[in-house]
Amino acid sequence: MTTLTGTRLASLLDRLFAEADEASAETDSAVADLTSEERARLMRSKTGYPDLYERLKNVPLAVSRETGTLLYMLARGAKARNVVEFGTSFGISTLHLAAALRDNGGGRLITTEFEPSKVARARENLMAGGLIDLVEIRQGDALQTLKAGLPETIDLLLLDGAKALYPDVLSLMEMRLRPGVFIVADDADVNPDYLARVRSAKQGYLSTPFGGDVEVSIRLI
Ligand SMILES: C[S@@+](CC[C@H](N)C(=O)[O-])C[C@H]1O[C@@H](n2cnc3c(N)ncnc32)[C@H](O)[C@@H]1O
Repeated sequence: MTTLTGTRLASLLDRLFAEADEASAETDSAVADLTSEERARLMRSKTGYPDLYERLKNVPLAVSRETGTLLYMLARGAKARNVVEFGTSFGISTLHLAAALRDNGGGRLITTEFEPSKVARARENLMAGGLIDLVEIRQGDALQTLKAGLPETIDLLLLDGAKALYPDVLSLMEMRLRPGVFIVADDADVNPDYLARVRSAKQGYLSTPFGGDVEVSIRLI
């Protein structure tokens, strides 16, 4: 038995994923007044993302079940002790990563979210899952909250906040990523600059798209 598959967390995740499925209509209606071009512009913009996520503050926008399981597996395989997550939302991915830390014997997960009501929900979910002791939720913009106070080395990085900021957040973390560390980026196809960087051996990465919407990369140097 693992923490991920134990009754307490498995039943919580069943409920949260069911709620995430039910929220898809609300997610669509939150951006229904925008044209597809405006939506794409906001997704790619380094200044428009607060407006976009303000509209989406009541919906979970969670990783898929498969991505959640992948995160748990990668963190277990890497024997991760220090994990950083960009984009907490309701904490569904956070629960998977924290479960891996628990099963690795402990550790620290730093996650960041700028929407206060989402921070509160994530905290509630992590308490319900019995994992809050492993998680530090930093409220605010990742470009500020992840600037300092990080462990010397990071064993796994999840990028799941504003897609336009993936290269900037990677840069903030890069000196702490040792060879062999996994970087998982959800919906990374929105950001061609990010993909070009992590798909470049010259820039120190090997990378592949996985499951259609996730980019899994490894640090080489
Ligand atoms: C796709 S959701 C994260 C889903 C979460 N990883 C999960 O699977 O449960 C992205 C979240 O990142 C937050 N976010 C976006 N840009 C951010 C930023 N620059 N700093 C902090 N949080 C940000 C949004 O408010 C949103 O809740």
